[in-house]
Amino acid sequence: MPPPEDPTGAQPGDPAGLEREKQVAAEAAAQLVEHGMTVGLGTGSTVAYLLPALARRSLGIVCAATSPRTEHAARELGLRIEDVASIDRFDIAIDGADQVAPDGWLVKGGGGAHTREKIIAAAADRFIVIADSSKPVPALHSPIPLELISFGLRATMRRVAPASLRDVPLSPDGGVIADYHGPVGDPAALAVRLSATPGVVDHGLFPPEMVATVFVGRGESAERTDFKHSLSSS
Ligand code: 5RP
Repeated sequence: MPPPEDPTGAQPGDPAGLEREKQVAAEAAAQLVEHGMTVGLGTGSTVAYLLPALARRSLGIVCAATSPRTEHAARELGLRIEDVASIDRFDIAIDGADQVAPDGWLVKGGGGAHTREKIIAAAADRFIVIADSSKPVPALHSPIPLELISFGLRATMRRVAPASLRDVPLSPDGGVIADYHGPVGDPAALAVRLSATPGVVDHGLFPPEMVATVFVGRGESAERTDFKHSLSSS
């Protein structure tokens, strides 16, 4: 389903406008980070704008990255990256999304990093989503990214059908990246079904309870939505 036309945001076919909106959203989220915080860094082209915005603030923060790509870029900018193995909670985590529903449900994993991203989001006191105006959708739809264990892959693919393998390298944790193409309907029910399927490491459905705040870039401003039902917001 294409995103709804939005007169207040960049129009489809305006890639420069969407890039600017990613930057606007990322810069708004960077302002939530304070000296001394432990910060989880997501993955993707929107997070690519977050990293310089954070670096420019020269805060004393400790970061952990959800992908080698983010880790490399953050280090290049002088951000302090720690091994996630040494961190048991984050003050804040900031990440992009592929779809944002009005009730706060997300689809993530366009970059295949959703398993790590969900671990960091769940460990964060506040999980902040940054997105351009093409990401809000009236209702979530497929594809829903999957990370699968390679053992028994054909059997797992049959259980999650209709699905296709993505032509990308294994995840940094050795997982196979695939996409579920069936109906979404109730995201909570689909999330339960996918999570309960043997061989599925994790899926790209993120529940609203995980989300504290969403920033959507619309033109030159960032529209902020706070989700009161977030277990993690303070
Ligand atoms: C990676 C992700 C990304 O956050 C998501 O795909 C959005 O990416 P982008 O900011 O490039 O649009 O979930 O696994």
